Amino acid sequence: MATILLTGGAGYIGSHTCVALAQAGHRPVILDDFSNAAEDVPDRLAHLLGSTPEVWRGSVLDAELLARLFATHDIAVVMHFAALKAVGVSMQRPLDYARTNLGGLMTLLEAMRTASVHRLVYSSSAMVYGLPETIPIPEDAPTGFANPYGYTKLAGEQLLEQLAASDPRWAFGILRYFNPVGAHASGLIGEDPADIPNNLMPYIARVATGELPHLQVFGDDYPTPDGTGIRDYIHVEDLAEGHVLSLQSLMRTGQGHLLNLGTGQGRSVLEVLAAYGRACGRTLPHVIAPRRPGDVPILCADPTRAAELLGFRARRSLDDMCASSWRWITRRQGD
Ligand code: UFG
Repeated sequence: MATILLTGGAGYIGSHTCVALAQAGHRPVILDDFSNAAEDVPDRLAHLLGSTPEVWRGSVLDAELLARLFATHDIAVVMHFAALKAVGVSMQRPLDYARTNLGGLMTLLEAMRTASVHRLVYSSSAMVYGLPETIPIPEDAPTGFANPYGYTKLAGEQLLEQLAASDPRWAFGILRYFNPVGAHASGLIGEDPADIPNNLMPYIARVATGELPHLQVFGDDYPTPDGTGIRDYIHVEDLAEGHVLSLQSLMRTGQGHLLNLGTGQGRSVLEVLAAYGRACGRTLPHVIAPRRPGDVPILCADPTRAAELLGFRARRSLDDMCASSWRWITRRQGD
């Protein structure tokens, strides 16, 4: 049983990965400052796992805390989820994004180097493809960024590449997420934005509960079949399983990899809205609004490399994504 440190392990993707890791026989240790995670996530994880995971409350920028954590645990691999991720906010606060996302990664890597822990799974993003020229997007497509958030994710990848080239003991699983949505099948953990959601599915969920009147569809004049933006939505439980496969590959081979995690299937805003309507049992209202600045028409992964290298295949459908989201939202409201 290997001990795995999950920074940001109480957050949306971290908490689902924590469950998948424990189910695969590993021992997760969570470090989280709870700046974007609910306080009751550890209890919910305990309910799911049968025992409370070890949780350290603190920041990846706290070098002293990291030193203590590594000194007292035999960490085999680190999974680094802790980061800021609001694209719009990053445009107003580029320095905060650099400090947390790049500074956090550097502080963590320094602590790992001191502790002789050299394996890390890194949360990257399809954002690093900037304005993609080829759809579906293979990993060797040109990279770029359109906002400070994308910059921090790409710069983080590049730092890891330089580090791996400097010392063969380092091995990194760089995972470029497409659009993670949905919730754990139990309805016990899921995505929980504190404010009005920016992202599509959490926003639709609030329309479904009646907290928001309608979805604003940002543009219906894109060059897509129904005119609305297309994304590669991936169920968060599939994404979590991809992390476990990445970890197992790192542990088995000692070799790093850089992979897309997506389904390879693009879905439009209106398709997602209709699917959520099926999940909650009523047609959900929408209005057509102007395009959102910075949006690209289509983002869709070429998932071939993850399939070949890890045997990874996203198994869950768009209906599964919506049904699990709705189960989580309604169950939480009943708690
Ligand atoms: N959309 C709407 N109305 C809304 C919200 C979104 O029409 O209220 C549309 C967007 O225009 C886009 C699609 O729904 O066409 C998806 O938008 P999201 O905000 O859910 O997701 P993005 O693709 O813009 O960005 C997300 C994450 C990023 C990540 C990226 C990778 O926010 O962090 O996916 O693809 F990097």
